[in-house]
Amino acid sequence: MERIFVSYIDRGMIIAIDGPLASGKGTLARALAAHFSLPHLDTGSLYRAVAHNMMREGYKFNNTAAAADIARHLNINGIIDADLRTAEVGAGASVVAAMPEVRKALFDFQRKFAANPKGAVLDGRDIGTVICPDADFKFFITARPEIRAERRLKELHAAGDNITLEELTKQIEERDYRDANRADAPLKPTETSIILDTSDMGIDEVIQKAVGIIDGTNK
Ligand code: CDP
Repeated sequence: MERIFVSYIDRGMIIAIDGPLASGKGTLARALAAHFSLPHLDTGSLYRAVAHNMMREGYKFNNTAAAADIARHLNINGIIDADLRTAEVGAGASVVAAMPEVRKALFDFQRKFAANPKGAVLDGRDIGTVICPDADFKFFITARPEIRAERRLKELHAAGDNITLEELTKQIEERDYRDANRADAPLKPTETSIILDTSDMGIDEVIQKAVGIIDGTNK
């Protein structure tokens, strides 16, 4: 408790949430931000915005020079959230996210966000390892691949994307592999990460558990 107490005085509380695709990390991040009145950054949307800009400007996702340039001058004008949530943009995001030049270009913005005196909640793949190694709480959210595929299929179908379960499962396998095996900032828990498998948990249960851990009643 002392650590939390001290950190509240020195600076706001920083909560880092990492995990693979459709593990529930975004939902948990939004809920914790609302509960503790902290600003929230979905860092995946930055990589998605780079991929979206590349599509808009007609580049292939593997064009490192173009991706780095776009990331350095990231233009989010005219992009609405729905544009970023498609399966194609997600797949492109994971390609550009493996490029160290792109990660470097997005680093400062994320660090500055985390340095907000009020504190912050950030979710992504490398928040606990690279962006906020000094976070007060590091959650690593997982779920079985078939559960994640079902969740993401529902979201994509609701958004009008007609991707099949078979194609999505293939994309998830590729994305999981790329995110966990890239040389720069691969997805992995840290030694102090709190690992939560949400496969058999409802959203409210996950939120309650995380809030309980933070409040120190559920350690
Ligand atoms: O919601 P979902 O898990 O599908 O994806 P996301 O969190 O929006 O992230 C999209 C892609 O961006 C991921 O597959 C990662 O390759 C990349 N990413 C990353 O490398 N580092 C982050 N901090 C956040 C996302």
